[in-house]
This record gives sequence, structure tokens and C-alpha cells, in this order.
Amino acid sequence: MSPVDLSKLSKFYKKTKSEKIDSLLQAGVISKEDATLLSENGLELPDEIAGNMIENQIGRYSLPYGVAFHFLIDGKDYAVPMAMEEPSVVAAASFAAKIIREAGGFRTSLTDRRMIGQVALKSVPDVQKAIQNIEQHTEEVLSRANEAHPSIVKRGGGAREVHVRLLEADTIEDTPEFLVVHLHIETLEAMGANIVNTMMEGIAPYLEELTGGTALMRILSNYATECLATAECRIPTRLLKHGSFTGEEVRDRMIEAGHFAWADPYRAVTHNKGIMNGVDAVVLASGNDWRAIEAGAHAYAAKSGQYRALSRWKKGENGELVGTLTLPLPVGAVGGSIGIHPAAQFTKRLLGYESAAELERIIVSVGLAQNFAAMRALVTEGIQKGHMGLQARSLAISAGAKGADIDKVVNQLKEAPNMNLATAKDILENLEN
Ligand code: MEV
Repeated sequence: MSPVDLSKLSKFYKKTKSEKIDSLLQAGVISKEDATLLSENGLELPDEIAGNMIENQIGRYSLPYGVAFHFLIDGKDYAVPMAMEEPSVVAAASFAAKIIREAGGFRTSLTDRRMIGQVALKSVPDVQKAIQNIEQHTEEVLSRANEAHPSIVKRGGGAREVHVRLLEADTIEDTPEFLVVHLHIETLEAMGANIVNTMMEGIAPYLEELTGGTALMRILSNYATECLATAECRIPTRLLKHGSFTGEEVRDRMIEAGHFAWADPYRAVTHNKGIMNGVDAVVLASGNDWRAIEAGAHAYAAKSGQYRALSRWKKGENGELVGTLTLPLPVGAVGGSIGIHPAAQFTKRLLGYESAAELERIIVSVGLAQNFAAMRALVTEGIQKGHMGLQARSLAISAGAKGADIDKVVNQLKEAPNMNLATAKDILENLEN
């Protein structure tokens, strides 16, 4: 994306949909064609595509598609799309990104992008001999995997490493021994589930020959430990001051909140849920498989043997607050619904990402921003204050308010002693009378 003229986007949330589209155009965030597309509801999935995506399709399920601003990631500006049903998430992301931008933005780093495939072998007669045999024939295993999917090899990817893991029998749970062979595969711009599965199915018979065992299954692992993305932010305390709390107090309380989430799985799940609010919203907007990302992230949170916080918060050398987040992020820039869903294609243009690696950098930064916003609110004023305004809006709409009445109901609801649906209905009734 070309540099964003943020001045054109001020008070964005107060604009009507067509004003929003117009200001995105004026700010250089979207093209004229995309402005037209948005005004004509062009992000909707056409029936003929929907009908070819899944079986037994009978309708389409829509979610709001919003945009968060102020993201500065590795020196580049992004307007970040978020597909999300929960109020406050987009606002929180923008809010956090604005503070982090003032602090210099996000810095990210990535491991190599390698996907993992598994062949689980059972009933291996001599495990040590089998391991030795596989290790002696590593090159042949790799070349058979690559022969199974020549097109990815032609494009510069392919199977790179073979690893063998022995899962010992567990007499308590009565599980037998498994010999598991992993391939680490470069799938380039694709998430690569089909590439990986094809390769694993391709090498399974050879692995049976080498081990004397039986292949129970061959499948991609969504625990993508060879495809990690890390984001970091460093926020000086002057940017953390909030209400009656000094910046130092907010920093220290956030660090303590991080320790709490590290130590306690009950808190860690909620802490990580907040991170995934941001991650899932962008993953979904990008047309990627958010279940894969969710499953992998939570497994990664439990890598020490206990489920823990995915992010870490500490004090930097200059007293600043330093946040880091590492996630397995096996997303693709091509494949799946990315090429066929109009919203996913629009996401690609809006973010202007040039590779799956760049998309990883964006997503992990959004996760960290979301976590920053939640923790800052939680250790200071709490989250309800911010949530109530949006809650009031949902109640007003549920009560049947339309157009200008929505704001009127919201304003009265905020002042009412009980903010609930019955009160919203009463207010609306009074207005209509
Ligand atoms: C709500 O969707 C997310 C939070 O609960 C996250 C957190 O507690 O860190 C606010």
C-alpha cells in the first residue's frame, strides 16, 4: 500500500459507510475500482462460488468487515482488514497500533516457512533398525516426496528435511508405540496442505518398506513449529500514562498481568483469546484457514507442558515496556479460498502484501496490538467502560431501532440504570410515540 494520508481518516468511525469509502479513497488506502466495489457490496460471496466451495450449500453467512488503522510494521504502513462479529476489537487494534506507531512501530522476524507432514507407522518390528534405515535413506525419502509433487519443486520449493520421532508405548493409557516420520516442506506462497498431504501419501509405501511397519496415516500437522512469526514493540512509559495511572505504573501492572497469564492457564486462555481476536479477524479476512491457526497457536501456548500466555511483557533497558509475541503462522498468499473469495482478494489489495511471509508479519503484529489494548484496559480502568457503548449499540439494534433512532437509543441507554434489551425496547417505544 502507498503511504496513507491518516489526516483523511480522522473520526472515521463516525462517518457513514459511503463517507468511509470516500475517505479511504482520498487517503490513498483503496483504488477507485475498489471504492466502487465496496459501494456495490462487492465483498459478498456470489452464490455460484459459495455453491462450489462446500457441499450442500444453502446460504451465506456474513460477518462485518472492518479496517484498523495506524499499523506501522517494519517501517511500512498498513490499513488492516478485520472480519469480526465482536464489538471493540477493531477499535482496540487501531488504538493500540496508534500508540505503538508513536513508539516506532512493530518489528517482526520470521523463521523459514516450512510446513510439517507426518507419516505415523505402527507395528514396526525393530524400531532401532527402522530408524537407522530411514536415516540411511533420507535422500531417497526426500526425492520420492519431491517426485510426488513436481510442480512445487519446479517453483523452487519441496521437501527439505526428514525427522524421525519415536512415541513410546504408554501402558497406563494403553497406547502402542508409534514411529513417526516428519517431512519439513517448503510450500512457498501456499499454506500447502495439499502439497504436504500428497507428499506424505507419496512416501508412505517406501517408509513401510524401510521400517517393516504399517502406515496408519499420512497428513499435514497444523502444529507449524517450523513456520513461526514474532512481533515486538517497545513503548516508552510517556505513552502509557492513563487516567490516574502513571506510565511506570501501567508498564509494571502490564508486566505483572503477563506473569499472571504465564502462571495460570485459566487466565492464559483468556489472554490468548484476546490475541486471537486480532489474529483470527485478519486470517479470516485474508481467506486463510483460521481453525488451523487457532489449533496451532494453542498447541504452541502449551509447548512447555503447561498452557501459558503466548505473549511476553517485560521492562526494557531504558525503562520502556517491551512486548513480544511468537505464533506459528502457516498462512498462504495463494490457494484455498484466497483466489476465489472477493473479500479475500480485496484484503490482498488493501494490505498490499507481496508474500505469505509479509502476511505473517502483519498478523502477528495485530495479535500483539490486540493483547496490548486488552491488557492496558484490564490493568487500569477495566474493559467494561469501553464495551458498554458498543453493547448499547447492539441492544438498540436488537430492540429494533433503525437509522437515526439507533444513536438516540444508545445515548439514553448509556444513562439508564439498567442497560438491557427491555430498557432498549422501552426507550425505542417512547421515541416512536
Ligand atoms: C475479549 O474478547 C478479550 C479479552 O478478554 C482479552 C483479555 O482478557 O486479555 C478482553
